[in-house]
Amino acid sequence: MHEGERLLAIGVDVGGTGIKAAVVDVKTGEMAGERIRVLTPVPSKPAVVVASAGRVVARLVRAANSAAVAAGLPTPVIQAIGVGFPSPVINGVTKTAANVDPEWVGFDAQAAFSRSFKRRTWVVNDADAAGVAEMRFGAGHGKRGVVIVLTLGTGVGSGIFIDGRLVPNTELGHMEVGGKDAERRSSANARVRRGQSWKAWAEDLDDHLRAIDVLFSPNLIILGGGISKKADRFLPFLKTPVPIVAAQLRNEAGIVGAAMVGLERETEMLREEHDVAERGHLDTPPAPLKVVPSVPAAEAG
Ligand code: BGC
Repeated sequence: MHEGERLLAIGVDVGGTGIKAAVVDVKTGEMAGERIRVLTPVPSKPAVVVASAGRVVARLVRAANSAAVAAGLPTPVIQAIGVGFPSPVINGVTKTAANVDPEWVGFDAQAAFSRSFKRRTWVVNDADAAGVAEMRFGAGHGKRGVVIVLTLGTGVGSGIFIDGRLVPNTELGHMEVGGKDAERRSSANARVRRGQSWKAWAEDLDDHLRAIDVLFSPNLIILGGGISKKADRFLPFLKTPVPIVAAQLRNEAGIVGAAMVGLERETEMLREEHDVAERGHLDTPPAPLKVVPSVPAAEAG
């Protein structure tokens, strides 16, 4: 790995509505090629979603290879693949299915995506992935204390960061607010479904934010998801006494974060595998290994 060399990973963001993916330059957080978006199949059963994501990844790899050939460059090395999925994910298994088919509950998504992509793949919660990217390259960069990233899309996802370190799989979208599952009123979809004005929806979102403030006293709340492009329409109506800002990576955070987490997990795994292999063959402890640099989940301070 040379200074200035790109570190590439594929990020796939599976949502209740769309599947988005790109090759990401993990050092800069930028897309290293085209971004592909296809609609999430309906019904969103695991087999069809996984197959659809597989076609998207194959297209990305083909596009990256032909772009390199056209430019007279060597074909790019993709170091890892990460998938963000709208559910808590424990050891690769998706636990819930709020906005996708119920067959995802208890499904080994990591194994299924790995088979479909024909390489080891890492699956994480979509909002955790988006939060990781936003903390490193966006509005959370260098922010210490408790930072909460909320993604407002088909549902509401959350990533909680303490001095830049993620507490994974929090589900603040499903807090009970006003006797209801919060995301039923504060997601971007809820505004459209209920035909609300920006002000009326912002007031509902504000109830959710106030409840979060009561429980967590965050230093900063970052609002992401596609709707963050229109933050000027609703931020002025929010009264919760916490600094609240729009995400800077907009809707790309999920893709970038999935690639970052994928690379981080892959690097850890390679290191572990190397250690095990070394221990199997040597009596002396292995020499320190130089692998692709690990990308910190987020940069604090
Ligand atoms: C899911 C979360 C997800 C969020 C955003 C919620 O309904 O429960 O896991 O992060 O939607 O997609």
